[in-house]
Amino acid sequence: MNQQSLFPELSEATNQFLSREQHGLLIDGQTLLPAEHKTLEIRNPSTGLVIGHLAAGSEMDVDRAVHAARAAFEGQWSRWTPYERQALLYRAHEIMERNFDELAEIESVDMGAPISRTRAMKASMLKMILFFAAQSSNIVGETLQNGLPGEVTTMSIKAPVGVIGGIIPWNGPLVSQWWLIGAVLASGCTAVLKPAEDASLSVLRVVELLHEIGLPPGVINVVTGLGNVAGAALARHPGVDRIAFTGSTETGRKIIEASAVNIKKLQLELGGKSPDIIFADADLEKAIQGAAMGVFANSGQICFAGTRVFVQKEIVKEFCAGVAEFASSLRVGHSLDPDAQLGPLISNQQLERVMSYVRIGTEEGAELVCGGERLGGSLGDGYFVKPTVFANVNNRMKIAQEEIFGPVLSVIPFETVEEAIALGNQTPYGLGGAVWTQDISKALRVVKGIHTGVMWVNCYGLIDPLVGFGGTKLSGYGAKGGRAHLDTYLYTKAVYINT
Ligand code: NAI
Ligand code: MG
Repeated sequence: MNQQSLFPELSEATNQFLSREQHGLLIDGQTLLPAEHKTLEIRNPSTGLVIGHLAAGSEMDVDRAVHAARAAFEGQWSRWTPYERQALLYRAHEIMERNFDELAEIESVDMGAPISRTRAMKASMLKMILFFAAQSSNIVGETLQNGLPGEVTTMSIKAPVGVIGGIIPWNGPLVSQWWLIGAVLASGCTAVLKPAEDASLSVLRVVELLHEIGLPPGVINVVTGLGNVAGAALARHPGVDRIAFTGSTETGRKIIEASAVNIKKLQLELGGKSPDIIFADADLEKAIQGAAMGVFANSGQICFAGTRVFVQKEIVKEFCAGVAEFASSLRVGHSLDPDAQLGPLISNQQLERVMSYVRIGTEEGAELVCGGERLGGSLGDGYFVKPTVFANVNNRMKIAQEEIFGPVLSVIPFETVEEAIALGNQTPYGLGGAVWTQDISKALRVVKGIHTGVMWVNCYGLIDPLVGFGGTKLSGYGAKGGRAHLDTYLYTKAVYINT
């Protein structure tokens, strides 16, 4: 047993899970060793300590998993009725609810989000499962008119596409895996899921629990391992019909290239540099907190983080002082500290990346208002960065143009609505955005003017599966949530019946 993987403050179930010799792979309902017997170290980002080992899947393992997924797709699973798949999702809802504390603890230890945050994800996760349970009995085609001679009846039917490759990042797999798992179970597809090498544990545990409630072997397989090995093998595998990917734009491009092999349709949610626009007439106290948490939540590791905060000139001073005060009041701590509001970054590599952007910001002439340093003392071995605010940022600076994925907020002054919209759109990304004002017509001008897949008014980061979100421009394509979500998992067949 790995001593460093024991946490007295955690439940027995969590400790039992964490103390396993090796985690992954999960293929055809069984835990398998990787073909090449390679492993990766699992580090606790709060301490930097190795807490276990993760199977490093190879191309061969991906191939095994894809075959298992194909066999399951063509076997019994294809004869499950929508009601049976829906009932499975209800059982999933129940077992996830019952085991949620363990899942939250695993996630916090593995990827560093504070336990207060992962525990609070319960409602989001359960809502997603209910959303997909409803989708499973709502897959509809159409009866269509036609102008054909004779008596021809025409319709369209929707059918599951087959094997889905799911590639997800490390910033919140506990919830984000459900965009894939839920859709697979609702649609009747099967999947090979490749979680991020830095945070695979909650995915492995969730899929294990699903097997306990009757998920047939092979329907959802998990191949852990490196992105450029296991992820790349999955993206180019000719036996995979579609790919759902969340992650960086750079890796998204590689997946688009790999998809050419067999013309895979893709659902891509990529990077962002979202504008958060604050007018002088906004409720400033709410705007300060909302904009700050729009960046600092999850230590900035959120795709739609509102990292470019445009503030109307007359309130810039007041806003900067307020946001700096708020940032400094946030408790940054070990992910298992019950009072911590922000945890560490995922890895040393991410820490270095964020710190390098802090240096770049200073060199570019932005004014560092607060933060900008790694935390020391008892947090010195973890990957902690103080919430950081830069003022006097110009939208053309690197820190305003590139995705940092850390707790770094940039304040950019503006004067008019037109200027705010123009600056907000000066980015290659198009994921999220927000506007804070008491004037509804001003809010709507911004909502209509900003080219992004989601906009918030007087709030930031609210997500509901019934509504969904998605990106445009370099932030990707294909919907997450809403009715369009299942489009990635279904294809449409036109049927002509000569009667
Ligand atoms: P990444 O996009 O490379 O990783 C996301 C997933 O893709 C992981 O599961 C990874 O193993 C996999 N992957 C990596 N290379 C692959 C390849 N060639 N083919 C198939 N799959 C591959 O992101 P990474 O390297 O973890 O983080 C780097 C930066 O990317 C971050 O600093 C951040 O700026 C950005 N990022 C953005 C995310 C978002 O949601 N917008 C999520 C994660 C990272
Ligand atoms: Mg980790």
